Amino acid sequence: MSSKINIAIDGHSSCGKGTLAKNIAKELGYTFIDSGAMYRAVSLYFIREGIAPGEVQEDPAVLGNIKIEFKFNPDREYFETYLNGENVEDDIRGLEVSKIVSKVSTLSEVRTFLVAKQKEIGKNKGVVMDGRDIGTVVFPDAELKIFMTAATEIRAQRRFEELKKKGIDVHFEEVLHNIRERDYLDSHRQHSPLKKAEDAITLDNSSMTKEEQARLALKWAKGVISAYQL
Ligand code: DC
Repeated sequence: MSSKINIAIDGHSSCGKGTLAKNIAKELGYTFIDSGAMYRAVSLYFIREGIAPGEVQEDPAVLGNIKIEFKFNPDREYFETYLNGENVEDDIRGLEVSKIVSKVSTLSEVRTFLVAKQKEIGKNKGVVMDGRDIGTVVFPDAELKIFMTAATEIRAQRRFEELKKKGIDVHFEEVLHNIRERDYLDSHRQHSPLKKAEDAITLDNSSMTKEEQARLALKWAKGVISAYQL
C-alpha cells in the first residue's frame, strides 16, 4: 500500500491556500494542483471564444473542446496551467478572469467536468490540492484536510500587492470589492458551496507568516503520514 496521502486545502479567496499547498507539496515531494486555476482556465476559454457562461447549460458539449494540463516549470518551481496546449498561467490571474470565475464556477456542468478530472489526478495519492470543495466533494476521503481563512482586508491587501508586483494597475477598493463578492458567491452557490468539511482543521493565518503556516501544516501532514505507515 502507498504511504502517500492526499491533502485537501480549502478556504476563502486570497488567503494563501496556493502558497501553503505549494510549500508543503515541495517539502513532501508531492504534486501540487491549484483547482482554482482549472476554473480560471475554463473562464479564460469562455472570454476568448465569446461564450456567455449561461450558454454552457444549453450546450455542455462545448466543454469537450477544453483541455487543461499542468506542467512543472523548474525555474518557477511550480505546476503551470496549460489551456489547449498554451501556457496561460499569467492570463488566468488577471482581473478580467477573476470577475467571471465565480459565476463560471456556479455552473453544475463545469463543476462535473472539472471534478472528474480532479478525482482522476488524485487517484494515486501524493497530491496536495487547493480549492473550495476539495475536502467535501473532490477528495472526501483525503487523509488530511485543512480549512484556511484570514480577515477580508488582510486578504485584499495581499492580493493587491501581488497584482501590483505583476505590474497590473488596479485600485485597492476594486480588489476588496472583488474578494467580498467572490466570498459571497463561493459560500452561497447551490452546487458545492465553500464550507468546512467536518473533519478539517481550521488554519486562520491573519497574523502568521508563510513560514509559520508551512511549518504547522507540515507537522500535521507528517503526523498523518507516519500514522498511515504504522
Ligand atoms: O482559488 P481561486 O481564487 O483561484 O479560484 C477561482 C474561483 O474558482 C473562485 O472564485 C471559486 C472557484 N473555485 C471553485 O468553485 N472550486 C474550486 N475547487 C476552486 C475554485
